[in-house]
Amino acid sequence: MACKRGALIVLEGVDRAGKTTQCNKLVQTLQQSGQPVEMMRFPDRSTTIGQLISSYLEKKSDLEDHTVHLLFSANRWELVPLMKKKLEQGTTLVVDRYAFSGAAFTSAKPGFCLDWCKQPDVGLPKPDLVMFLQLSPAEAALRGQFGEERYETSVFQKAVQQKFEQLMKDSSVNWQVIDASQSVEDVHENIASHTHNAINKAQNLPLGQLWT
Ligand code: TMP
Ligand code: MG
Repeated sequence: MACKRGALIVLEGVDRAGKTTQCNKLVQTLQQSGQPVEMMRFPDRSTTIGQLISSYLEKKSDLEDHTVHLLFSANRWELVPLMKKKLEQGTTLVVDRYAFSGAAFTSAKPGFCLDWCKQPDVGLPKPDLVMFLQLSPAEAALRGQFGEERYETSVFQKAVQQKFEQLMKDSSVNWQVIDASQSVEDVHENIASHTHNAINKAQNLPLGQLWT
């Protein structure tokens, strides 16, 4: 390797846990410390596939449940060449949602099992660290109303939380549960410290394959 690779860092969590805020703060902090870093998010609504997904989430179109699941996965796969290139160049990627949201959200629908839902994402670049921002439904409620998009109801979000808990039992993934009820600054410090460790470790390890 010409240079040390970047780390793949993922933030997951229930709605309103603060994923996007924390991703932005983490990128800022890493930039200030001179670490090459970029933020990504899934779904990436800017691509052709991402636009189909976005229209579905905004309830402007309907898609069959298996179909939209595969589109979410395809939306990750289409970004894989770019992700690998950046990581190889030494850029750390901070990613807002990944395959874990994919599996948790679809498997929370009736008639889907977690195992089927994971399959399309098997072999994706494996995150060096996945931080799950944990927030109780009561605390989430204090942060305001749900939005208008599909899936933004408390009943569905509770089912999703249970699926995340099942996914977190998999010790082949480097999960860290973060208490998201703390102040933005405290959550950030916690996240930054796990991230620094993961960046240091990843430098000397090859990029893995998810769920293989
Ligand atoms: P966002 O609000 O972070 O843009 O996420 C969009 C919604 O899509 C959110 O409700 C979670 C859901 N989702 C899936 O159902 N499958 C996926 O693979 C991903 C990444 C998100
Ligand atoms: Mg949203």
